[in-house]
Parts: sequence; structure tokens; C-alpha cells
Amino acid sequence: MNIDQIFKNNQAWVNEKLGNDPDYFKNLSEGQNPEVLYIGCSDSRVTAEEIMGAKPGEAFILRNIANMVSNLDLSAMSVINYAVSHLKVNHIIVCGHYGCGGVKAAMQSQDLGILNPWLRNIRDVYRLHNQELNQLKTEEEKYRRLVELNVQEQCVNVIKTADVQIAYRSRNLTVHGWVMDMTTGKLIDLKIDFDKVLKGIMEIYHLD
Ligand code: CO
Repeated sequence: MNIDQIFKNNQAWVNEKLGNDPDYFKNLSEGQNPEVLYIGCSDSRVTAEEIMGAKPGEAFILRNIANMVSNLDLSAMSVINYAVSHLKVNHIIVCGHYGCGGVKAAMQSQDLGILNPWLRNIRDVYRLHNQELNQLKTEEEKYRRLVELNVQEQCVNVIKTADVQIAYRSRNLTVHGWVMDMTTGKLIDLKIDFDKVLKGIMEIYHLD
């Protein structure tokens, strides 16, 4: 994909939008009111808006390597704070994907420099679920399950924030754990039972 082509594509997109609605960009510029905060992987194949069919203005997005929610990540904490407390989103989605390079790297014994501290959070997920993962027979099964468990633990990290705990009590906020399967293109809802997960963690992480 060359840079000149990107600007041509952009102009074609502008023309298309204006062709459908001459006020499209005027309306878009007036403000945003997204219903959804989507936290996903930076992987170029898992395009947040496209896989959800979301239009500009419909989803607030955070993407990083392996869809992590670290409480030391000022970007992630700021995005959650703004989305929940100011934009008042009612759904927070953590979406992982099978074949995730970040999760794969965390399963290997290799020094990856600056990626070490980032991927260590995934190793912590492995350690938390060591018993379950070690019962699986093949590396592929472990890899797929770790992708799912990583989504679950990042959802738990979302729930650990004060913004989300406050919103949980005062309105109908829901956290969703999804995995995208690139071999089919489908989004899979992991159907995590958050009431159950919450009961288990709130004794320790309760903030407000
Ligand atoms: Co990934």
C-alpha cells in the first residue's frame, strides 16, 4: 500500500460520503456519542470497525499488542476513564484473536527487549491458569486457550478500574470478552459470566 494511494483512497471515501449526504462531515464534526469502547489487538488483520460494521462515531477504540489492559498503561487507563465517565459508553469489549503474535511470543522463552515487560502480563495470565493450560495436550490447544484466557483477564483488569466499578452500580454497563477467528472472519462471544467473575475479585479489588 503506497502513501499516494492512501490519499486517493481518502478522497474517494470523502466523495462517497458527500454523495450520500452533503452534511456528513458537518454532522460528524459536531461531536461523538459512541455506545461502545472496543479494546483490541494492533494486528493489521483484525480491523476493529470493519469487523463490527461500525461507522465513524460509533465505537471508541484502543488497540495495542495483544489487547492488554495494564494499570500502568496511562493510555489504556485514560481511554477507559474518558469512555466510561465522559462518553458514557454502555459496552466495553475486549477482543482478542486466535493467531495473536503477542500471545505466541509470550509462550516462548526468548528475550524480546522492550516487549519483555509488556508480554510479561500475558505470562502472568499463563501462571494464573497454569493448571488448566497444562492439562491441554498440544501447543496449539494451549495457544488458543491462552488467547481466550488473556481476553478474560483483560476484562477483569477493566473491571478493576474505579470508573467501571462506579458505572456498574449506577447504570447498565456491560463488559464483553470476544475472540476473532481469522480463519473464518467470525467474532466469537466467550460468554464470560461477569457476575461470577466480579464476585470472585471484588473482595480484593473493590474501590468504591
Ligand atoms: Co494479536
